[in-house]
Amino acid sequence: HRLSYVAGIETSCDDTGIAIVDSNGRVRGNVLESQQEFHTRYGGIIPPRAQDLHRLRIKDAFERCLQEAGLAAEELTAIAVTTRPGLPLSLLIGLRFARHLARKYNKPLLPVHHMEAHAIQARMEHIADIEYPFLCLLISGGHCQLAIVRGPGRLTLLGETLDDAPGEAFDKIARRLRLYVLPQYRLWNGGRAIEHAAKSAKDPLAYDFPLPLAQQRNCNFSFAGIKNNSFRAIRARELAERTPPDGVISNYADFCAGLLQAVSRHLMHRTQRALEYCLDPKNHSFGDAHPTLVVSGGVANNDAIFANIEHVAKAYNCRCYRPSKKYCSDNGVMIAWHGIEQLLYDSVKNLRYDLDSIDIQ
Ligand code: KG4
Ligand code: ZN
Repeated sequence: HRLSYVAGIETSCDDTGIAIVDSNGRVRGNVLESQQEFHTRYGGIIPPRAQDLHRLRIKDAFERCLQEAGLAAEELTAIAVTTRPGLPLSLLIGLRFARHLARKYNKPLLPVHHMEAHAIQARMEHIADIEYPFLCLLISGGHCQLAIVRGPGRLTLLGETLDDAPGEAFDKIARRLRLYVLPQYRLWNGGRAIEHAAKSAKDPLAYDFPLPLAQQRNCNFSFAGIKNNSFRAIRARELAERTPPDGVISNYADFCAGLLQAVSRHLMHRTQRALEYCLDPKNHSFGDAHPTLVVSGGVANNDAIFANIEHVAKAYNCRCYRPSKKYCSDNGVMIAWHGIEQLLYDSVKNLRYDLDSIDIQ
């Protein structure tokens, strides 16, 4: 059969991602412009500034992506674009550019839900192993969910965070620890810095962390307790050892290792409940089959967390996957792949040429 090519456009936060993926799941072009360097200097994302940077870079990123793919825009089958959720100012730049392309080249526009794209990304590389339905643990900077994924656009939520997302907690705690003053972590996101720092821990039990929602018999999450507990512990340590205002506590590695274990424990605890739910014949979720577990989103980059989750899955005889690291965090590839799945499985009835009916939410 003839190959389809979908261009994916991702601007929901602070990365301008454009990619072209074909219907065999091959990545033909992938351009990712990070704004990390800029935002690090200001201790966080400033939405109007993020918008400016997207606007400045998007056209060039698209052209470089076509070039990398060796394709002309006319050869694309469709344009996929993140329409939600995300920073409205940032989303708008991607959508406007996608609408412009769709109009200019007369291509259908495929709206993509960012979290759904994370959820099904692992199928691009494991299409034979990850069949619908599967169980997904979605852990990122903005979300934390357990869901049964039945198809692109067809998720049944089993639980979600009541407050912070794990990546958000990592980012805030890393900033509070001031890990960014250490040159090796200057340009890293909080989760990655914490993962790396934890490796040189001497005493991972030096700090105590709570196990959130331990008594609740559901699949919800909460990271605010771990976060606030962290802030308190860091403050106490700073006072005790008189850390200078621009310094880092001496045993930050021990702290990071403990934090990582606490977050892992909570994620494992809730994932175990979800697996038990799925395996219970009463719930008719998977018939007799054992659910496949997919871990996705930026926090799935974390090897320690993934190994822990995989361990739980194996204990229930379930296979466990995640996307390759380069596709765990935000990028254009996952948006393009969601577009390919819409073409393959949701198919023609959904093709949208009425461009103004598609908006951000
Ligand atoms: O999926 P993503 O790129 O953007 C959102 O949709 O939120 O996830 C970004 C989040 C950040 O909060 C970052 O701290 C976290 O993913 N993250 C990690 C790692 N790499 C990125 N968390 C833990 N360990 C990592 N190696
Ligand atoms: Zn994301």
